[in-house]
Amino acid sequence: MLKVERLDAFYGDSQVLHGVGITVGDGERVAIVGRNGAGKSTLLKSLMNAGPRVSGLVEWQGENLRDMPSFRRVRLGLSLVPEDRRIFGHVTVAENIEMARYAAGGNALPAAVVIERFPMLVPIKDRPGGRLSGGQQQMVAVARAIAARPKLMMLDEPTEGLAPVIVEQLARDVKAACVETGAALLLSEQNLWFARQCTDRLYIIDSGQIVFSGDWPALDRAPDVKQRYLAV
Ligand SMILES: Nc1ncnc2c1ncn2[C@@H]1O[C@H](COP(=O)(O)OP(=O)(O)OP(=O)(O)O)[C@@H](O)[C@H]1O
Ligand SMILES: [Mg+2]
Repeated sequence: MLKVERLDAFYGDSQVLHGVGITVGDGERVAIVGRNGAGKSTLLKSLMNAGPRVSGLVEWQGENLRDMPSFRRVRLGLSLVPEDRRIFGHVTVAENIEMARYAAGGNALPAAVVIERFPMLVPIKDRPGGRLSGGQQQMVAVARAIAARPKLMMLDEPTEGLAPVIVEQLARDVKAACVETGAALLLSEQNLWFARQCTDRLYIIDSGQIVFSGDWPALDRAPDVKQRYLAV
């Protein structure tokens, strides 16, 4: 289980997260939603110790991670698919997914097994990463994350720039991959439909603070919250 308490995050002197507290249980799927600049990416990067300077508690399976570097967090089962996806252009889809071995060591799932789980990847498995659409790249990034067998997969706005039909496919594949592998999910999103498909509950972040926590029906019962923090 992930437990975050009183988390502050800074870029230089500028404080971006203010006393954030969240939890994600084993195998649980949770969304972080909020507007542009709310602090979603900063939160996910803070949990990986990958960028911002952080203070507060980040506890993973009972261990206070303190200043543990990102690569060691990966070995403990945490994994982040960042906004920019980081697909290697000169190697194939299958080889991109094989790269998970470098993070997960002998524990990684073979690329062929993972590709079976993502039907969109089957016909393009031998295509170079540099010749993929945005949606295909996102699929590869998620598949590579799953190949490393994370205990908690963090996805940073995976639907950004994707066509609606791809968003639907991605929702099915992300949820199925988490259910099949038992991975927990912490998903940063602005697409509420997608976030709801993939998760059971959500936090709303605004100006670096958690302003709402509940399940999706609870958000339905609070239209004022939705209007105030999520309306564009
Ligand atoms: N490297 C950085 N240096 C300084 N400030 C930053 C840096 N990255 C982000 N910020 C600032 O931190 C705040 C939160 O940004 P963050 O990227 O976490 O938001 P976000 O919720 O992910 O937004 P988006 O939905 O647009 O991706 C913003 O005010 C942003 O300008
Ligand atoms: Mg972001």
